[in-house]
Amino acid sequence: MTGDHYFTAEPTTAAQPREVEFSVAGRDFTLTSAGGVFSADRLDPGTAVLLRKAELPSTDAAGPLLDLGCGFGPITCVLATCAPDATVWAVDVNERARELTAANAARVGAADRVRVAAPDDVPADLAFAELWSNPPIRIGKAELHELLRRWLPRLAPDGVAWLVVARHLGGDSLHRWLVEEGWQVDRRASQKGYRVLRVTR
Ligand SMILES: C[S@@+](CC[C@H](N)C(=O)[O-])C[C@H]1O[C@@H](n2cnc3c(N)ncnc32)[C@H](O)[C@@H]1O
Repeated sequence: MTGDHYFTAEPTTAAQPREVEFSVAGRDFTLTSAGGVFSADRLDPGTAVLLRKAELPSTDAAGPLLDLGCGFGPITCVLATCAPDATVWAVDVNERARELTAANAARVGAADRVRVAAPDDVPADLAFAELWSNPPIRIGKAELHELLRRWLPRLAPDGVAWLVVARHLGGDSLHRWLVEEGWQVDRRASQKGYRVLRVTR
């Protein structure tokens, strides 16, 4: 065992690759996961609620789309599959997560449209049509606020962010904080203890 968190930059936990299977919007996905990344053994229940309750991009969505904190890439792969013409940016601080997401983008046939990047490597002039995130609550409240203050303003003027947060991890206080920060926030769904928030300007 090591002291790795899922947001460790370079996990030292044994990779031990494994398969994670799930279905979203009638499509089946089989992705590769590994130790040292978030929810390595299954689609996280919060992510599952997000992908079930939020409005997935339509087939003609132009993007670009952002998966903030991509982990092994389940959200990225779903977005890239739903929106076959859109570029999806998959961002994570965890190098292993980025490697897995790149491999999984290839598995779903979207390697040419998925740009996997560390946060500082995303071009500064990109404005995102959609931002999707199961955000890293465990980094701490101040860091989470800093993360959202960094990325939400990168939405295009009519862009939409979809976030999922467990109520017991502060979903409702995050909702209030976003409103205080001047965002329009609609609690789009509440299921299994998770809040799905739709955030716009
Ligand atoms: C709750 S996990 C979600 C992972 C994946 N999207 C999923 O649904 O399984 C949050 C992710 O955010 C990443 N993360 C933590 N701090 C970050 C930061 N400052 N910028 C980008 N990603 C970060 C973590 O490494 C982790 O992979």
